[in-house]
Amino acid sequence: MLAMNYRGPFRIRVDRDKPVPKIEHPFDAIVRVTRSLICGSDLHLYHGLVPDTRVGMTFGHEFTGIVEEVGSGVTKLKVGDHVLVPFNIACGSCPFCKQELYGNCHESNPEATAVGGFFGYAHISGGYDGGQAEYVRVPYADVGPTVIPEGLDIEDAALLTDVVPTGYQAAEMAGIRKGDTVVVFGAGPVGIMAARCAWLFGAGRVIIIDHIEYRLEFAKKYAYCEAYNFKEMDDPVMFLKRQTDWFGADVCIDAVGCDAAGSAMQTITGKKLLFQAGAATALHWAINSVKKGGIVSVVGVYGPPFNLIPLGSLMNKGITLRANQASVKRLLPKLIDHVLAGRLNPKGLITHRVPLEEISDAYHIFSAKRDNCIKPLLIPPRANFA
Ligand SMILES: NC(=O)c1ccc[n+]([C@@H]2O[C@H](COP(=O)([O-])OP(=O)(O)OC[C@H]3O[C@@H](n4cnc5c(N)ncnc54)[C@H](O)[C@@H]3O)[C@@H](O)[C@H]2O)c1
Ligand SMILES: [Zn+2]
Ligand SMILES: [Zn+2]
Repeated sequence: MLAMNYRGPFRIRVDRDKPVPKIEHPFDAIVRVTRSLICGSDLHLYHGLVPDTRVGMTFGHEFTGIVEEVGSGVTKLKVGDHVLVPFNIACGSCPFCKQELYGNCHESNPEATAVGGFFGYAHISGGYDGGQAEYVRVPYADVGPTVIPEGLDIEDAALLTDVVPTGYQAAEMAGIRKGDTVVVFGAGPVGIMAARCAWLFGAGRVIIIDHIEYRLEFAKKYAYCEAYNFKEMDDPVMFLKRQTDWFGADVCIDAVGCDAAGSAMQTITGKKLLFQAGAATALHWAINSVKKGGIVSVVGVYGPPFNLIPLGSLMNKGITLRANQASVKRLLPKLIDHVLAGRLNPKGLITHRVPLEEISDAYHIFSAKRDNCIKPLLIPPRANFA
């Protein structure tokens, strides 16, 4: 089959003869991919920032597909179902899955105790091949995959596997109260979705911060928010204080993670010398820009090693820090409702529709923020689902 193949940092190619995955466990299903996407989290892998990213891996944790085969233990899915597959691989029965912490499943990732398994990620998250391919093996097939309801557009369905729940959970973890001022760092797909969802929780003012002008323009229209370029500020923290009567924002959301720009010190120690797990610049700014007693919600991804963050400010300002991988399955019923009712328009984020064969260009464009790219969608050659 055709599949994305990781060759090392900034090197991606398409394999034309990767073996089609097989059922390995009675709870597995094999899914023929109909749509997949590239995520900002894939860029951390692409940039070589995630430990134990192995050459030969197929990335991709956002995909829809048709069930081609099911293991003998699968009872809910049947061959021919068209499903959207959450990026978390979750067993559904461990103590964490039972609390609906599907991103923290204790069974699906043998390598770590923090995060559960993901499709198409490094071996620190289980080392499962992902959906930037024609076929995927889906473990615990009765737990994550969700039949795409009638009337739900396939592109919306694909975005419900990650970006929509992640943006929504960012706003949810931020504990937004009516009238709150919300600052979102990062105008990528996740930050833009978080800004849009902040309104659903009653925000009174939503501000997004980035340094890429086309993304700020896009965010303003898509998420009805104010948008500012941190490159034009002497100090983003002082800028935000000035914007918020000097108290600071009620809540700040970090939708950037370890690939942040904006601080030479963070970039050198985190992205060049790898003394810390990437650059924690946005998290730094979030902690320093939120008001005393405020909440900082982190969905931007950081790796397991430590990061240089202003712990003293966090402690002395009485800030609540909330963070996690999104728990996709927990949020799906509510989010499908929002999409079907027209309150959220996920596919509006897609700017590029690319044949799977051209995936290496898609990575380059998305990573380099070229060609006004917000979110690239991949279409495999056998994607026909009619
Ligand atoms: N928690 C989860 O479940 C989950 C799920 C999906 C993605 N993520 C993470 O969310 C983050 C965003 O994902 P994305 O797909 O939107 O990525 P993206 O790379 O498209 O967007 C990140 C944006 O942050 C901007 N940025 C860089 N430094 C900044 C700074 N200091 N302040 C403000 N903005 C800055 C970049 O210019 C870019 O526009 C990534 O870290 C990704 O790994 C987490
Ligand atoms: Zn993702
Ligand atoms: Zn579990």
